[in-house]
Amino acid sequence: MDHSNNDEACDLSLQPSELGTKEYWNAVYERDKRNYENHGDIGEVWFGEDSELRVLSWLQKNVHKESRIIDIGCGNGMMLVELAREGYKKLTGVDYSPKAIELCSKIMKSQSFDHIELKIADLTEENCHFENFNIALDKGTYDAICLNPDNAVFKQKNYIKNVSNLLCTDGLFIITSCNWTEGELIKHFESDFTHYQTIPTPSFKFGGKVGNVVTSLVFKRKTDS
Ligand SMILES: C[S@@+](CC[C@H](N)C(=O)[O-])C[C@H]1O[C@@H](n2cnc3c(N)ncnc32)[C@H](O)[C@@H]1O
Repeated sequence: MDHSNNDEACDLSLQPSELGTKEYWNAVYERDKRNYENHGDIGEVWFGEDSELRVLSWLQKNVHKESRIIDIGCGNGMMLVELAREGYKKLTGVDYSPKAIELCSKIMKSQSFDHIELKIADLTEENCHFENFNIALDKGTYDAICLNPDNAVFKQKNYIKNVSNLLCTDGLFIITSCNWTEGELIKHFESDFTHYQTIPTPSFKFGGKVGNVVTSLVFKRKTDS
């Protein structure tokens, strides 16, 4: 797949994969829920703990503790647990996988973080009723949506609109992706967001070119979108 960064090559699509289906994520979180019940294992931290810590540390420096934060595609909810540990109070997790939300809710209860709101919702659907968040987080969710075998590009566009609509006027969207470069993400989201900051991630050099395995970007919601 050519991930080069020019207008003509700004292809929104990836090769479809089972990682883009709800069945896949339900199976993952059903297995992880059993492991958690039997061994206390919380399951995978997607893109590694460092990716989570980089976003967390950016939030601690830039976002006050009363902010309303939503983690979209929260999976096992570990990002929300870390945010709660750091003193963030207004936290919501959403995921389209009921199994993810079951696991998440078990983990929250065991940590006594009962104030974290959890909801089952598909953020590519047109009737999404979330609003007024200061911060929206996405780690691996847009990546999964892009792999959906059933009209991924349509779903991606709905997702971008939904994320914009759930944020308040000066809201920020923080995305961590392993499938798209910084240039590609800026292009995908440009209808509704402006690039605000890049959270530095480790880079590698190959054949004279510098690349990143993971990209973390902060977008500001466009006020007229
Ligand atoms: C790669 S996992 C990342 C999970 C979590 N953010 C993390 O970092 O551990 C992608 C997550 O997105 C969720 N997801 C995928 N498509 C979604 C959609 N359309 N709406 C809501 N959640 C979705 C999946 O169920 C899964 O939990």
